[in-house]
Amino acid sequence: MARRKLLLGNWKMNHTIAESKEFCSHSADMIKLVAEKGIDIGVAPSYLSLQTVKENAGNMIVAAQDCHFADHGAYTGFVSIPMIKELGIDWCLVGHSERRLYAAETSLTCNRKIKALIENKMTVVYCVGESLADFESGRTKAIVKEQLLIGLMDIAKEDTDKIVVAYEPVWSIGTGKNASVEIAEDICGYIRKLLADMFGQEKADTIRVLYGGSVKPVNVNEYMKAPDIDGALVGGASLAPDSFAELIKNI
Ligand code: PGA
Repeated sequence: MARRKLLLGNWKMNHTIAESKEFCSHSADMIKLVAEKGIDIGVAPSYLSLQTVKENAGNMIVAAQDCHFADHGAYTGFVSIPMIKELGIDWCLVGHSERRLYAAETSLTCNRKIKALIENKMTVVYCVGESLADFESGRTKAIVKEQLLIGLMDIAKEDTDKIVVAYEPVWSIGTGKNASVEIAEDICGYIRKLLADMFGQEKADTIRVLYGGSVKPVNVNEYMKAPDIDGALVGGASLAPDSFAELIKNI
């Protein structure tokens, strides 16, 4: 089954509301480019910019970068799913390696968030990936398997249409050292095999698996052409409108 390619920009802690609005002033041109390609595009701004981007980015996907699993409560500094949903946002990243690293997020916490998001009919982009030490000691598949099995534990087969998986080796994020297409394809294919074990081959064939880590306009299409890579999660190269448009053009 043909899976639609997806290009998703992760803005991380970049772009104020004004800067986000400036980016959106170029969105009509981007959407025009996309229409010719038959792909999906989107961005994940900071919480503060979600509303501005949702209102100004046409039919681009707009995703939150994180959420709390509880609907409300005494969790100072966190943002709940109902707060995000109220803005009309129905996508959310979960388990990005920077959350795992700087906010001590575990796959078990990710699992709680994923379940809560699915209950709220939101689409999840679940990020997995190994550290440099794990890569160098040949533990990539073991790490990715553990993250996937725990993160997607007890998710019903019929809810897998709400799941996108992003393979992002930590050593390739923001370093300019993108994983080779061979490595990325091997691990994305492995992820699909694990998804087939969990949810059956038919479902696994419909779940999009993205690659992320130093994707740039010059290399984006290499990944897009690989059979088990259904798109890219892009950080640095998604920030400037010119660069984001270049990514789209090169697909
Ligand atoms: P990068 O980030 O493209 O800047 O390497 C990717 C990501 O963290 O999603």
